[in-house]
Parts: sequence; C-alpha cells; structure tokens
Amino acid sequence: MTQANTMIEHLGAEYFADPYSVHARLRAQHPATQVIMPGGTPAWLITGYAQARAALTDPRLVKVPGDWRPDPDSMSAALDLHMLNSDPPDHERLRKLVNKAFTARRVEQLRPRITAITDELLDDMSTRGEVDLLTAFAFPLPVTVICELLGVPVADRDQFRAWSATIVSETVSPEVFQAHATAMIGYFRDLLAARRREPADDLLSALISVRDEGDGLTGKKLIGNQLSENELLSMAWLLLVAGHETTVNLIAGGVLALLLHPGELARLRADPALLGGAVEELLRYVSPVNDATFRFTREAVDLAGVHIGPGQVVLVSLSGANRDPSRYAGPEGLDIGRDSTGHLAFGHGIHYCVGAPLARLEAEIAFGALLERFGSITLAVPADALRWRPSSLIHGLESLPVRLRP
Ligand code: HEM
Repeated sequence: MTQANTMIEHLGAEYFADPYSVHARLRAQHPATQVIMPGGTPAWLITGYAQARAALTDPRLVKVPGDWRPDPDSMSAALDLHMLNSDPPDHERLRKLVNKAFTARRVEQLRPRITAITDELLDDMSTRGEVDLLTAFAFPLPVTVICELLGVPVADRDQFRAWSATIVSETVSPEVFQAHATAMIGYFRDLLAARRREPADDLLSALISVRDEGDGLTGKKLIGNQLSENELLSMAWLLLVAGHETTVNLIAGGVLALLLHPGELARLRADPALLGGAVEELLRYVSPVNDATFRFTREAVDLAGVHIGPGQVVLVSLSGANRDPSRYAGPEGLDIGRDSTGHLAFGHGIHYCVGAPLARLEAEIAFGALLERFGSITLAVPADALRWRPSSLIHGLESLPVRLRP
C-alpha cells in the first residue's frame, strides 16, 4: 500500500470555476489524494475512474458515520433524514417509496407536458434578442417539471432557488445558512399541512398517505411506520433540490460547452439523430454534480492504493472520473459522437440517481427545441467573464447571457 501524497492540498475558490484541471493535476499524482475542500473539510478526493467506480459500491464507505441519529426536534432531522444520507436498510425503504414515480416509462408520459413548458419558455425568449439563458430557460424548465410532479407551487420558485443555492454553497455564513434552512423547513411544513387537508394527484400527497395510512403509492395498507414525519420532510426537499439544481446546470453548462465547441454544435444541428448521444457526452463533459456527496469510512480501509483511517471523509469526484484519460480518449475534448457510456455523472451503486430518466428526457427536449428554434445562439459576454457558483458539489454557472436569432 503506497501513501499517496505527503502534501495535503488546500483547494481554493479556483476549484469552483475549473475543477477539471485541478482533478487532472491531482490524478497525475495519484487517483486518491488528501485535500482540504474549499469549505474547510479535510477529505480523500478520488479522481481516477476505476477507483471512483469501485468506491461508489464499496460497503465500507457509508453515508452515516457511527450511530449518528439527530435529535428529532433538530434542524438536522428535518433536513438530513433522506435516502441520499442513508445506508441500507433505511436507504432501500426510502428509495422504494419514490422509485416507481421516476421509471423511464412513467417519465415518458411527461413528454408532452415538458415539451409544452419548453415551448412556452422559448416563445417568451424569442421576443427578446438577449437573455440570461439560465434564468429564462435552464432554471424554469426543470423547476416547473419537478414542482408539478411533487405538487409544489411553481410561483414560489424564486424563494426556494435562493434557499437551495445556500444549502449547496460552501462560502455562505452559518447565520445565512441557518436562516435559509429554517425558512425552507417552515415552507415545507406548511405545504405538507396544506396537502394533508386537501390531497391532490401529486407525489407529495402520495408520500403523505404513506406516512399517515400505509403504502399510498400502491394502494396497499401496510402495518408499521414506513416513513417518519422528518423523513417525509427531508424527502420533499431532497426531491425538489436534486430535481432542479442538477438539470439546470446540465442545460446551461451543456449550452455553454456547445457554444465553446462550434464544430460540435454545427454537427448536432446538421444531424439531430446525434441528440441522445450528445446528451450523454454533455453529462460526461459537464458533470453537473462535480463531486459526489460525502461518504465516510466505517473502518480503516485500503482503497484506491491508499490507507484511510476510520471516520474519514471520502469524496468521489464524478467529474474527475469522467475525464480520466485511462477511461475516455482525449477526455478534455467534447465529442458528441463518442461512446460516453459508463460515465459517472449520475453516480453509481445504490445511490445512482433516481431522477436520471427524467433528467435525460428534459435535456433531450431542451437541447433539441432550443437549437431548432434559434438558428444562431452566441455568447453575449466573453467566456472568461462568466462566473461559477461557489460549490464543490454542483458545477454551475451564475448566469449565461446569450444573443438569440431565429
Ligand atoms: C442532470 C441532472 C442530474 C444529475 C447530473 C444528477 C446526479 C445525481 C448523482 C451524481 C447522484 C448520486 C450522488 C451520490 O452518490 O453522492 C444523484 C442522486 C439522486 N438524484 Fe439526481 N441528478 C440529476 C437529476 C435528478 C432529478 C431530475 C431528480 C428528480 C427527482 C433527481 C433525484 C435524485 C435523488 C432523489 C438522488 C438520491 C438517490 C439515492 O440516494 O438513492 N436527480 N443524482
């Protein structure tokens, strides 16, 4: 077992704008290196593809360190008791409750509605020559879809855009975090109370009936408590945040990648049959979830060629893995015709993204319709003036000003 690096690298704000070159440099040293994340957390960062894939299915890496269980009245209980923070058997119990709502078949039924929302946004954009593509398109599209699916009022979207940005930020102050998290929990408590009084044909109502009566999703009555109130609350906000933070950045980051690779953009315009493969390549290339969420070593482990003590944070870099030259030839290049299968943009193992079919469908409709509607899309600012959000989890633009012509 070799000890990877003696130097512990401090990752700074430059990591937010360009995590890719940081990963390339670290990977060249070793596929697993010790870092201090920009938010101050010490972690082992895995940037090699094979090692990342193995780590994501390694049962010695867990989401809940020790026997952590938050006080039921705490803010943490209301926020953290969701599937992405759980290990088996809780993970399986929680995931099963929503799995069916996101299968490829169920999601395909949303195609007409997603197309209609897309067309409406494009109509609005076509009346303006210059827009922030993020605010006008990449954000409202997935947010409207997930809100309708869950039964969250779309009109409130700007409120929870701010809350969720705070929750994934690494530079926000503890006071702002506390204020936004409290507001978000209050919002969801009120919303759940309203749906309890007046159930609707949406996922939140179905989850409430699981909580209150048994398995409302399949209609079967089950004995025993399947879902606690805090788990219901945590699930609601996880689905809302995971359901849009990510797809927003695939759409905006994907459009930017195409604008910076005009040859690939022209190729896609000339042959729309490439669209499905292009979405996969953009997932690989952009990797909207930059590093997967925290995992902890349950015990001392030998992993990726290093020895890691118990209770340490392991961060699997999905964008690092997706640009590992030992897996993808010329990984820093965008090639919409390449075979990108096996990319880790949706994770791997038991926490593999439950929303992947929905995200793929939204992206396919969004890119297809945008390119069809506008024969010319150009950046309205120099590329180096674009700003990135202060998060290691999400690689996302603050805004994307573009000029559009039919
Ligand atoms: C381009 C869009 C998306 C990307 C790149 C993405 C990426 C990911 C990744 C990487 C994970 C695993 C994280 C980890 O293991 O630490 C994940 C999990 C998850 N995603 Fe997505 N996601 C996207 C869209 C969505 C959508 C539309 C939903 C809709 C509800 C969603 C819901 C979830 C949930 C609930 C989990 C937790 C699954 C579990 O713990 O079993 N995601 N996603």
